[in-house]
Amino acid sequence: MTEKRQSIHGEWTSRWAFILAATGAAVGLGNIWKFPYIAGINGGGAFVLIYLACVLIIGIPLMMTEVLIGRRGRQNPAGTMRSLAKDTGRSKHWQWIGAIGILSSFIILSYYCVIAGWAMNYIFRAASGAFHHASASQINHIFQHFVANPWKLLFWHSMVMLVTIFLVIRGVKGGLELAARFMFPAMLGLLIVLVIYATTTNHFIQGLTFLFKPDFSKLNSTSALSALGHAFFTLSLATGSIMMYGAYLPKKASITRAAIYIAIADTFVALLAGVAIFPIVFANGLQPSAGPGLIFQTLPIAFGQMPYGSLFASLFFLMLVFAAITSTISLLEPSVAWLIETFRISRLRASLYAGFGIWILGLGTIFSFNILENVKIFGMTIFDNLDYLTANIMMPLGGLLTVFFAAWLMRRSDVLEELGISDRLLFRAWYFAIRYLTPLAILLIFLNFVGIIQF
Ligand code: TRP
Repeated sequence: MTEKRQSIHGEWTSRWAFILAATGAAVGLGNIWKFPYIAGINGGGAFVLIYLACVLIIGIPLMMTEVLIGRRGRQNPAGTMRSLAKDTGRSKHWQWIGAIGILSSFIILSYYCVIAGWAMNYIFRAASGAFHHASASQINHIFQHFVANPWKLLFWHSMVMLVTIFLVIRGVKGGLELAARFMFPAMLGLLIVLVIYATTTNHFIQGLTFLFKPDFSKLNSTSALSALGHAFFTLSLATGSIMMYGAYLPKKASITRAAIYIAIADTFVALLAGVAIFPIVFANGLQPSAGPGLIFQTLPIAFGQMPYGSLFASLFFLMLVFAAITSTISLLEPSVAWLIETFRISRLRASLYAGFGIWILGLGTIFSFNILENVKIFGMTIFDNLDYLTANIMMPLGGLLTVFFAAWLMRRSDVLEELGISDRLLFRAWYFAIRYLTPLAILLIFLNFVGIIQF
């Protein structure tokens, strides 16, 4: 029975198509916008170290697990979990892991599109020469003035949402492969230009020190949890995105190698972004803990001082939008697949319904930067709450339950067969990780957070 499952949405054309699409889903605002700003808020080095450890111990094994579950179930995350639970005679309530994942992707997308909208606006702003030789305070003023205007944010949020819906309606494969193929090298090239600029700021070493020298005194109980949450976020885990992409993966492709490539590419981009940004922060007397506006307040300074800076800046934000769109698509897909499979409606209608719901929820994030800026729930803005709830609670919990399911409830032989690792040692290492290491690491960070243990 399990052998014959087919996805009703089609399959990737090749293993590389999957790797490209999954890398596209992984690399996005998380790497370039979010990583630097949360590393900044959490004091740098020590946070980065925990994040890297989480990618290795939790991220890679979980990504393999999700792809294998997705490929075995071949449906939306909730449907997949239900089928696999049934295969081994477990309760159908396991489908809730999938459902929580779908809900997380829904929530994340609502704010993700708002930030991608900022980047889209910056393509045009940069092209108009607004950053040319502008001072740090002028650039800060431009940013503050922009986010204070809810109508502008709404307009750009809507643009990103429309592009995403359009691409998802066309099906996963359509323009996505092409976009990922050309976007990724261009993005890397521009990041390297920024890193070279950063070496000329006289604060390069200070930036590197901030990013890589662990100072554990700067960690507090939430920073370790944020590092864990970010490892999930940046690799697109525990929300059904990767499970969904796994559902479209041809049978023969090697899951292990794919997961490793994706994690390396993703981490590399994040570290490059950090190396580019922090020297600029220090050279201009800015605060690393500036928050979500960090890249919008720092990178334009660098571009403004470079020859052809307006062109480079415009291209950079264009690539950032591409990178974001390859992620927004992966965030919309689980909700759409769920609607299609549950209510038997067309892809067109499913994409419109889900897109509309997400668009509305996005208003909460838009207003967090202006009219509702001072409305705090649990001491945080609406945007911060949505981010906290998904990255620090829903995703770690979903990830924990997912590895638990694969490690302890699925048959070992099924798992082995689906993963297809011919190398027994590698299989054992992975299996050991998902049975003990990964869940333990997640639990430790949680327990530390709630204060039951202290490190
Ligand atoms: N990983 C993407 C980024 O870093 C965002 C993303 C795409 C995502 N799909 C996801 C985050 C699923 C969480 C879950 O920009």
